[in-house]
Amino acid sequence: MTNGGCIRIIVLLGVPGSGKGTVAQYLRKNYNIVHFSTGNLLRNEVKSSTCIGKEIEKIISSGKLVDDNIVNKVLESNLLRVFKEGDSVILLDGYPRTVQQSLFLDAIDAGKLKSSIRVLELDVDSNVAISRIAGRVICSKCDSTFNSFELGGRLICTHCGGTLVKRADDNEEIVRRRLQEYVNATKPVSGCYVGRLTKIPGNETSEEVTRNVDEVLRGFGMEKKRGGD
Ligand code: AP5
Ligand code: MG
Repeated sequence: MTNGGCIRIIVLLGVPGSGKGTVAQYLRKNYNIVHFSTGNLLRNEVKSSTCIGKEIEKIISSGKLVDDNIVNKVLESNLLRVFKEGDSVILLDGYPRTVQQSLFLDAIDAGKLKSSIRVLELDVDSNVAISRIAGRVICSKCDSTFNSFELGGRLICTHCGGTLVKRADDNEEIVRRRLQEYVNATKPVSGCYVGRLTKIPGNETSEEVTRNVDEVLRGFGMEKKRGGD
């Protein structure tokens, strides 16, 4: 894959349920990228039942955002590991979620990143997002995302055979609180990326959305790997 010689980070923005994880799943399969979802990284901390994991669990299940310092630390250690490994394109799903996080991201790697970040914002109506989340199930083993309406009641992961479960924060009351957090804390993040942000209509089917994403990535000079979808 070529990456236009400069893009090192692609950020996926969008309300909860806009399809960030679903697009990320597609991109992981079809491009040479390294994917980090801060939601998944934080849920893994919860699974490990450490002190910090217990604290994170309370915050996630309330629908609030986890403290910037905790998320920044989790992300930075993962990012720096990949930077050391070489010239990968990194996909960030669910980060940055606050203006403070976007400043932190710009500052990582001694500020060299700033010009190499591109942002894709999935533009989805909140009522569409709420109804999508109502049908979501995720794999308890590999974190893959599915829609239970499309599975005909078979709650087994088609990627790894793991059991599919509902996320603890996917009840309607908490989803509404997460949407409000998005409006308050995350919406302003778009303003940090003027000139680096592309909006993608996201109310359409997954196939249409990924087609639009492919087109934008082609514009960045990124090519699909062989043998994908
Ligand atoms: P996180 O896990 O990131 O959740 P989120 O942002 O609320 O987003 P979701 O994962 O709910 O939605 P998505 O956009 O990925 O949609 P998906 O592809 O699954 O964060 C969870 C919590 O962790 C936060 O609330 C916070 O507490 C904490 N956290 C995480 N990052 C943080 C940070 N940076 N700072 C602070 N705290 C942080 O799709 C949803 C459903 O729709 C699926 O069933 C899917 O199959 C279906 N679907 C997707 N696309 C389509 C389509 N085009 N058509 C039809 N169905 C579709
Ligand atoms: Mg997600």
